[in-house]
Amino acid sequence: MKSYDVVIIGGGPGGYNAAIRAGQLGLSVACVEGRSTLGGTCLNVGCMPSKALLHASELYEAASGGEFAHLGIEVKPNLNLGQMMKQKDESVTGLTKGIEYLFRKNKVDWIKGWGRLDGIGKVVVKAEDGSETALQAKDIVIATGSEPTPLPGVTIDNQRIIDSTGALSLPQVPKHLIVIGAGVIGLELGSVWRRLGSQVTVIEYLDRICPGTDEETAKTLQKALAKQGMVFKLGSKVTQANASAEGVSLTLEPAAGGNAETLQADYVLVAIGRRPYTQGLNLESVGLATDQRGMLGNDNHRTSVPGIWVIGDVTSGPMLAHKAEDEAVACIERIAGKPHEVNYNLIPGVIYTRPELASVGKTEEQLKAEGRAYKVGKFPFTANSRAKINHETEGFAKVIADAQTDEVLGVHLVGPSVSEMIGEFCVAMEFSASAEDIALTCHPHPTRSEALRQAAMNVDGMAMQI
Ligand code: FAD
Ligand code: NAI
Repeated sequence: MKSYDVVIIGGGPGGYNAAIRAGQLGLSVACVEGRSTLGGTCLNVGCMPSKALLHASELYEAASGGEFAHLGIEVKPNLNLGQMMKQKDESVTGLTKGIEYLFRKNKVDWIKGWGRLDGIGKVVVKAEDGSETALQAKDIVIATGSEPTPLPGVTIDNQRIIDSTGALSLPQVPKHLIVIGAGVIGLELGSVWRRLGSQVTVIEYLDRICPGTDEETAKTLQKALAKQGMVFKLGSKVTQANASAEGVSLTLEPAAGGNAETLQADYVLVAIGRRPYTQGLNLESVGLATDQRGMLGNDNHRTSVPGIWVIGDVTSGPMLAHKAEDEAVACIERIAGKPHEVNYNLIPGVIYTRPELASVGKTEEQLKAEGRAYKVGKFPFTANSRAKINHETEGFAKVIADAQTDEVLGVHLVGPSVSEMIGEFCVAMEFSASAEDIALTCHPHPTRSEALRQAAMNVDGMAMQI
């Protein structure tokens, strides 16, 4: 039986980052991954392939939808969906191979197969050929991730009724794509197919999109997406779905009750959230159990069983790759006896639509519920010179600061390339910056980041360019 300091089950952003950090710290480490490639959901069927299609489809729409022509670039693009998918798959392969390289560099053993616990300090790995390998470890990290949440009555067959993985590899552009769930996946992958020519209808149970995000920001995003042609049916629940070889007949009714209606689509994407994945882990062998949501609880990444740790989507907190990565580092540093903590208040969230939505810290709704007095500074991208010159003026930057101390409590952006700008505020907030600190900091001109500075100035009503 091979013995390690740390065995990690799962090779996604949680698992692979934990393995790399363990290697860096000189711990002997193995990472067990059942998929044929490393990188988990994020690299294989999540963040990376979705961003590849968002990038390609954005350029296609710009070229075909009049935006290029307005800039004086006259082209007649043809969609080659096969090539679009091929370049996405090639990028994914490059990235997953990159993790293999990082494993070799940091002396991480990749044990191929599905792992299960076999009592304290033991993991058994079943390979594709059925053979089993037993591993021993002082510490075991569970990083098994998540899977799509199913919707009762709407069976995902990945033919006509698909999950996000199916929506990343459709063989044709749907005439009509219905998306169930106006969350991150629904809006991102709905955008991809709309840009490529689909009619897209988004059905959402709640009366708003993207629950949990700042309401004003979400409303602005919804308006922008609706202007692009995405149809929203909010406050609606799907009660039935009948799939045939040609398409799907979907019955829905108002969530509050009322008359049912039937919609026809050639594909239906179910994107109503993800749930923790612990199948086959044999948790009972160490006396661990999941809660009602299937989640493994943690206290600073420790489970209730000494020597067994948990990170990423399979445990509490937002299901995001960078959150899994932060937990991976903190967990391994703790295993190595070093102090380390994740600041859960400062995990940014981004929706990679056009315009993008990016946020960090508290929303106005949260601060109201907490009864904390705050000030708001806003600045629209219509008044930002770089956004204007690029014809990308939708949205705004909004900075929320404590009413007494001026400390920045939350930042909510909807606009062009805001995914690349939110990091500025993550750093500033990690150092407890005030809105004035941002307002006094020189920003390069002309950039969209100047809108963030102007919004910070406007916390005290001092924006200069509006
Ligand atoms: P995972 O990435 O799910 O990795 C877990 C791994 O464990 C898997 O590879 C699985 O095969 C393996 N595994 C499970 N059980 C076992 C076992 N018993 N033995 C061996 N291996 C096992 N997040 C962002 O931050 N930004 C984005 O832009 C973004 N886009 C996304 C787009 C889509 C379409 C989806 C679905 C998700 C997206 N996410 C995004 C979420 C992100 O992918 C996850 O939060 C992240 O992958 C979680 O990392 P993880 O390591 O916890 O789990
Ligand atoms: P989500 O939680 O973002 O959105 C699900 C939506 O479905 C919510 O609006 C919810 O109210 C709605 N819903 C739930 N049940 C419903 C029902 N029965 N009928 C209609 N609507 C219903 O989940 P999503 O989009 O599936 O994404 C899963 C996870 O993946 C998220 O936690 C997200 O963090 C992560 N992800 C992150 C991305 C990013 O960071 N850019 C991109 C894609 C996914």
